[in-house]
This record gives sequence, C-alpha cells and structure tokens, in this order.
Amino acid sequence: MTKVLIATEKPFAPAAVNQMRPVIENAGFELALLEKYTDKSELLSAIADADAVIIRSDKITKEVIAAAKNLKIVVRAGAGYDNVDLAAATEAGVTVMNTPGQNSNAVAELAIGMMIFQARGQFNGKAGTELRGKKIGIHAYGNVGRFVATMAKGFGMKVLAFDPFVSKETIEKDGVKVVDSAEELYSSCEYISLHIPSNDKTKKSIGFDLLSKMPKGATLVNTARKEVIDEEGMLKLMAERDDFNYLSDIAPDSKDEFAAKFTGRFFFTPKKMGAQTAEANINAGVAATNQIVGFIKDGSTKFKVN
Ligand code: 3PG
Repeated sequence: MTKVLIATEKPFAPAAVNQMRPVIENAGFELALLEKYTDKSELLSAIADADAVIIRSDKITKEVIAAAKNLKIVVRAGAGYDNVDLAAATEAGVTVMNTPGQNSNAVAELAIGMMIFQARGQFNGKAGTELRGKKIGIHAYGNVGRFVATMAKGFGMKVLAFDPFVSKETIEKDGVKVVDSAEELYSSCEYISLHIPSNDKTKKSIGFDLLSKMPKGATLVNTARKEVIDEEGMLKLMAERDDFNYLSDIAPDSKDEFAAKFTGRFFFTPKKMGAQTAEANINAGVAATNQIVGFIKDGSTKFKVN
C-alpha cells in the first residue's frame, strides 16, 4: 500500500491532520505520522518505506533521501523549500513540490502584529507611535508581500515595493508604489517587511549598508528566513543606532547578543511562527495531501519545483 508520511518536527494543528487523513485514506493510501521528533534518526527510520512525505521546515537532506528507498514525492506544506536538497532529490528521481500561497495570510498577519507590538513599545504601557501615515517597504512582492501590502493599506500606511521578478503593472494594480532598487526602498521607508527567499544569491544580503539607509525610528520585520540577514552587520548597526528595531519570527543565531545589548528593540518568536495558525495548517496541509494524490494517481506535477 502507498505510504504517505507526515513528518513535522513542529506539528500541524490537530484540525489540519483531521482533514488531511481522509484525503489520504480515501485515495486508498496509508497515513503515517511522525510529529515532534527530536532526532534525525527518527525521521530516517520513519521515511525508510514511505512513498510520499509531507513536511514543513523539516530538513530533507541527501542522507534523508538516500534512506528513503521508495520515495517518489516530497511536498513542503508551505512556501519556502530551502530546507530540501533539490539536487539530491532530482538525482534520486524524487519530485519536490511546495504549496504556494496557502499559509501567506497567516504570515502577513503576524508581520503586521509584530509591527504594532513594536510601535507600542512592546506593550510596555508608555506612549508609542501609530502605523497610520508611515511608509512600509515590501521587499519581494510574492503571496505574503501582497497580503502585507493590503493590510498595511488598511492601516493607512503608504506602501512601496521592490521586486525585480514581478512586473511593475502587477504591483501597481494593488495601489502600491514600485521603486527601482532595494536601496531606494530602504531609504524611503520607516518599516520594511522582508519576504525574499533564502538561496545562494540572497543569503546574508541584508546587512549594514542597506539597513543603515533606513530613516530614523526604523523597524525591519523579517518573516522570511534568518539566513538572509548578515547578523554581524545587523549587530553593528543596532549598536550604532539606538533608534533601530529588528523583529522576526525566527531567532537569529546571535539571539543572546541581542538579548544582552538591545532590550526593547528586538523581538523574536520562540519557533518559526508566521504560518502557525489552524487555518494556515489546514490550507497548506490539505493542499499538500491533494497534490500527493494528484501526483500518484494522475501524474499531476503542478507546483513541482525541481
Ligand atoms: C513557509 O516557508 O511556508 C513558512 O516559512 C512556514 O514555515 P513552517 O511550515 O515551518 O511554519
């Protein structure tokens, strides 16, 4: 029987698994669940006889692929697939897909929520500031960026965007001002919401030079990946500028240094949290199971990324 493994170190909401199960079982497949595993060896053994696997930020390395002798498909229930070794999967003939857009609203809501939290002094009771009238720069105008733009407009913010991969017309249709470079975006906006993927070109690309262009009272909100930040440059900037704030749903490697030096100017959620809502889990999880059924039964390759 075709075995579909759901391997999630950070589990889906139970409501999501309850909706994923019938999709798998009605297709005549068997569901195996590996949640909250703490050691790679648990994943290696659970995946050994799986035909398909659904993951979140779980790492699918060359070693994991080599251990999965029957594996035909990996679906990352989410947007970013930097946690999957695409070259190793392709070499082993394994299809990799993501589920773009399914958890974007949840991530955007968290980005806006963190901005309000910081504008209000992390709810310390002292007079803070408002979002209305401030400029926000959306760095990369994909599914999450578009939701952040819509919400920010609802708050009365002026919205700008930079994305060399999305046409000016597409962005302008949303009533968002397009700028021609990251430098222009950062120098124009009090808030930047970061949505670039993590890859060889973007890793450590957000650093001292770019961030130091931001105006007084600047806040960078990173719900993308910690790897895109040049942490050394960020630490240097925050030491030089006591008006600069950094918020992220993924703690940087140097989080202890932030805690020691920059009280009140940073906030990191304990685990990557942007997509942690029941709704996002259901949307992404059910989409992933449907994609697996479509691939195995009908050969559908929609959302294949390798
Ligand atoms: C994504 O790439 O979809 C988000 O970063 C969510 O990741 P998660 O599924 O680990 O919460």
